Parts: sequence; structure tokens; C-alpha cells
Amino acid sequence: MKKAVCALLCAALLGGCGESRSRNDGKIRIGVSVYDSYDTFISELMKEFNTDVADTGDITVEVYNASGSQQTQNKQMENMIEKGCDVICINLVDRTSPKKIIDLAKKNNIPVIFFNRELVEEDLSQWEELYYVGADAAQSGVMEGQVAASAFADGTADKNGDGVIQYIVLEGEAGHQDAVVRTERSVDTLIEEGYEVDKIASAIANWSRSQAQTRMAGFLETYGNSIELVLGNNDDMALGAIDALKAAGIPRAAWPVIVGIDGTTAGLQAVVNGEMIGTVYNDKKGQAKAMADLAIALARGESLDHLNLKNDKYIRLPYQIITIDNVSDYLD
Ligand code: BGC
Repeated sequence: MKKAVCALLCAALLGGCGESRSRNDGKIRIGVSVYDSYDTFISELMKEFNTDVADTGDITVEVYNASGSQQTQNKQMENMIEKGCDVICINLVDRTSPKKIIDLAKKNNIPVIFFNRELVEEDLSQWEELYYVGADAAQSGVMEGQVAASAFADGTADKNGDGVIQYIVLEGEAGHQDAVVRTERSVDTLIEEGYEVDKIASAIANWSRSQAQTRMAGFLETYGNSIELVLGNNDDMALGAIDALKAAGIPRAAWPVIVGIDGTTAGLQAVVNGEMIGTVYNDKKGQAKAMADLAIALARGESLDHLNLKNDKYIRLPYQIITIDNVSDYLD
């Protein structure tokens, strides 16, 4: 009888304050696997995440680099489970292949927070302890289109004065939600803003500055001065275009308008010095904080109410337009 009362009391207490999931004597261990630790945006996001978690004290974070291999990431997931991680954060290599990760999470009863590389809703609904932290790709495309549109407002960026914007797009990885949607929405927005546009060319540069430089160098050889606008799916690729313009010795006054997305440290600097007309802030601080708060709340068994999850699963941070007028707000 006494035992039963105690069990009830404990259950009531645990129900009220939450039950820690810790598998390590009360200490929390968070495992993270990133698709590629050399990706600028991801490495800046992880820096924020580590700082946020370090601020909270007795929590260990282990970060793994999947180096572009889903198979490696699946193995890392097994490893993190074996090592006693209480919550695991996954930046999927292949956002269409989360099955193995989800199966392992369910089998071992360990919550997973996916981030930045969005799996489809059907996959995320496979189990209630799966979450996603990221942003709304369409919004970033619209904002990039708005930044570009405002640069053409006074007519000076229309180099050949034909009233049409001749543009190129440097695209992220094929199949990445941000690449496809940003490309579409940025161009659609220019059209909605009343501009006539003419796509000269586009190329996949996989989010990479050096690949973008190579592709832009090729475009400059073929199309030379006729390029009026460069839409980069991210800052690194916009910066790659700038590298190519510099390497080709093209005078600044003859450069096309260049716009990026992310607001990375180097991207912000390019806005400050006027090389990029603007960018769109991909809120790495907000996303890192949301991931940290969610991971810690899950590990401690606390309520998630204050995190305002959409459909009990999603946290999306809004994008923000950055131009020379407000860039100082984003500099550290
Ligand atoms: C960022 C890119 C990054 C990619 C990685 C995107 O949201 O804008 O810079 O390379 O995520 O998945």
C-alpha cells in the first residue's frame, strides 16, 4: 500500500515538473550531425548553438561532420545513441532519406530535431518525437526579389537601357528546398514588382563560393557586360560571383547588381562595402537558440509550450532584409 502511494506521488511529481530523459546520471548529452562542416552558414549556426548551450551549464554537446555522406550520418546516429545522447539534432545530408535515422530514433526512444535541410511532412509525422527547426524558403526568395527590385528602381542598373533585367542565377544543391524555392520566388517577385526579366543563364554551384566563382568566370567570358543582375541562392555563391568579377579585372562601375541570402559574416561585410547591394538574413542566431531551447526542454522533460511549435513539430524563424541602411544591426 505504501509503495503504491509513493508510486502515485512520484508520478504526480514527475508529471508536474517533467521527467528528465538523461541517460547519463542527470547530465544532458546532445548529439549533432551536420551534413558538411565546411558549409559557411552551417558552421556559423553551429557556433551560435555551441555558445547557447554552453551558457546553460552542465550539458555536453558532441558534433559530427557527415562530410556529405548519408551513410556516414546514419552511422553517426548509431554512434550517438550508443554514447548515450539524450536528444539528437540532424542536419540531413539527403533530405529525402531520413528513414534510417527515424527508425533508430523510434526504436531507442530518442527525440530528433532535424534542422536546415527540411524533410517532407510525411516523414516528420512518422513519430511524435521528431521536430524541425528552420525557416520559410519562399519568404527568403520574395525578399531577395524585393532587394533586387529596389536596386533597379532608378534605372541606372539597367546597363543597356532596354527596360529589361538580364539576370543569372547561382543555385544551391539540386533538390534542396531552399535552392528550388528561392530561385522561383525571387524571379517571380521581380515580375510582380513590375519588371520585365530575361534569364541569361543559371548554374548549380552547390552553395559553394569557389564553384560559383568558376561558373561566374564562365558566364563573364560568354556574356560579358550584358549581365545586369546576379541572384545568389546564398551569400557564399554571391561572393563567388564577386571573386570572379575581381579576377576578371572588371571595374566596379561595370559590375552587375549582386544579391545574396544568409547574412554570413563575409556576406554582411560585402553589404557594408557595397559589393553586394543587399542580402536576406537567414536567422542563424534564432535558429540556433530555438534548437538549443528545444533540445534542452526535451532532454529535461519540460513543457514545450513556450516554444510555440507549429503543429507540435515546427519552429521556423522569419527572414529579414538587409541593406546598407540596416546592416549595422547585424554586425557582431
Ligand atoms: C543556406 C545555405 C547553406 C544551406 C545548407 C541554406 O539555408 O542558405 O547557405 O549552404 O542551407 O543546407
